[in-house]
Amino acid sequence: MSELNLAMDVVIMAAGKGTRMISKLPKVLHRLAGKSLIFHVLDTAAALSARQVVVVTGHAAEAVESDISQYPLCQTSPLSSAHPSIPAQAKTADPAPPNVSFVRQEPQLGTGHAVQQAVPHLPDDGLVVVLSGDVPLTQANTLRALMAASQGDKLALLTLKMPDPTGYGRIVRNPTTQAVQAIVEQKDATPEQMAIGEVYSGIMAAPAALLKTWLARLDNRNAQGEFYLTDVVKWAVADGVPVVAHQIQDALQVAGINNPAQLAELERAHQLRLAQALMLQGVRLADPARLDVRGELVCGQDVEIDINCVFSGRVVLEDGVRIGAHCVISQAHVGKGAVVHPFTHIEGGASPKDQVDVGEGALIGPFARLRPGAQLGAEVHIGNFVEVKNSTMAKGSKANHLAYVGDAQLGERVNYGAGSITANYNGAHKHQTVIEADVHIGSNCVLIAPITIGAGGTVGGGSTITKDTAPGVLTVARAKQVSLPNWKRPQKS
Ligand code: UD1
Ligand code: CA
Repeated sequence: MSELNLAMDVVIMAAGKGTRMISKLPKVLHRLAGKSLIFHVLDTAAALSARQVVVVTGHAAEAVESDISQYPLCQTSPLSSAHPSIPAQAKTADPAPPNVSFVRQEPQLGTGHAVQQAVPHLPDDGLVVVLSGDVPLTQANTLRALMAASQGDKLALLTLKMPDPTGYGRIVRNPTTQAVQAIVEQKDATPEQMAIGEVYSGIMAAPAALLKTWLARLDNRNAQGEFYLTDVVKWAVADGVPVVAHQIQDALQVAGINNPAQLAELERAHQLRLAQALMLQGVRLADPARLDVRGELVCGQDVEIDINCVFSGRVVLEDGVRIGAHCVISQAHVGKGAVVHPFTHIEGGASPKDQVDVGEGALIGPFARLRPGAQLGAEVHIGNFVEVKNSTMAKGSKANHLAYVGDAQLGERVNYGAGSITANYNGAHKHQTVIEADVHIGSNCVLIAPITIGAGGTVGGGSTITKDTAPGVLTVARAKQVSLPNWKRPQKS
């Protein structure tokens, strides 16, 4: 493919209502793989290094514009430098965020009318690529090939053959020369045209100066009373400008979302592809159909993932990690050989301090909850119904049952008993708990922060600890046990 030495401007149509979603949320803000549809399209534009991106908004314009102005801030944060053992290329590319501007289309009189609104933003010297905000999975390479097909001076249409073309614009060709003559919308098509299997994807590339002259000639004399973008084909043909169809095989890349069923279908198809890509790298999935990656999942060698796990944000699983069934994991780094047992929820935050770190050889769960800022060292054990938040636990520390560790620093080999909690919050402020190395906290203890338990110390079960304890001592803070002989229980009179 020859590189075009031409500036490229992208127009994304996102003004339609999306009536068939039956939702208050504008269609382009619905999510696929955890990311709004329009963000997928913006990612593609960014990967193409578009000179600028003009988004046409209309229905719920404020909501759509305000979400887009967050782009790419809410993209997954790159944390790979902290984890040198994972190759850098496993990370998604971080192209420069595109220069995005908005134009309003009020009212929405059709796709041609939508692109007309963008005209003042489109310099004559560029190639314009028109995308739809509801077609999320087009790959940048496909668009590069489309642009190459246009050679900078032709109208290039992205098309594909569909077994069931219902609803799509049909590509009408000259029977002798096979040259593209028109796109005919479903509602305007004759029975013969209806039978055509080649359809228009909704994506085109056209030289800006020519596109503008064609847009100026659009009318709405058709079955839907709309200004069709697809009618530019007719005017290109009339002007003697060649119209080329770049046909692809991969229907997922041009699948548009019109209703929840299509959204779910595309989600599954996309997830299956992500699963297949992981398996190609050697990741062992119990069932590729029961995996959801809503962000970036980076895996080392010999990683095993059981059924029904959901990964979001950036998650790194180092060599030999095993993830049990039904785990929900976001923004986390799991060290070599760690095992996460079923039904564990790891919910790291996007900022580095909120990421969750699980050390090498750690054992987590089942039914564990690791919240933002849980930093667990090597061989830490976290058992069932244990919650850890904003705390570090050094190598070999254990909290095996029913416990809360919040705003705490635990040294190495601490044993944190069942039912014990750090009382880190007094209703107004949060305070730190420090538990030094080799401490043994009995069951059902309340450690009222701020507090330090000195190294090697022991806290007797059932204690409420309010004062710092010295290293090596046993501390018990509970009512003394008394036994009263000959005690008679009260009787009903
Ligand atoms: C369009 C094409 C059809 C193609 C199909 C592929 C036209 C006339 N038809 O049909 O040939 O096969 O896409 O998916 O272009 N939009 C606006 N303003 C409007 C109308 C639509 O911004 O006034 C936006 C929508 O939000 C959407 C996109 O344009 O993102 C496509 O509109 P839609 O109504 O879905 O077009 P289709 O009927 O699917
Ligand atoms: Ca559509």
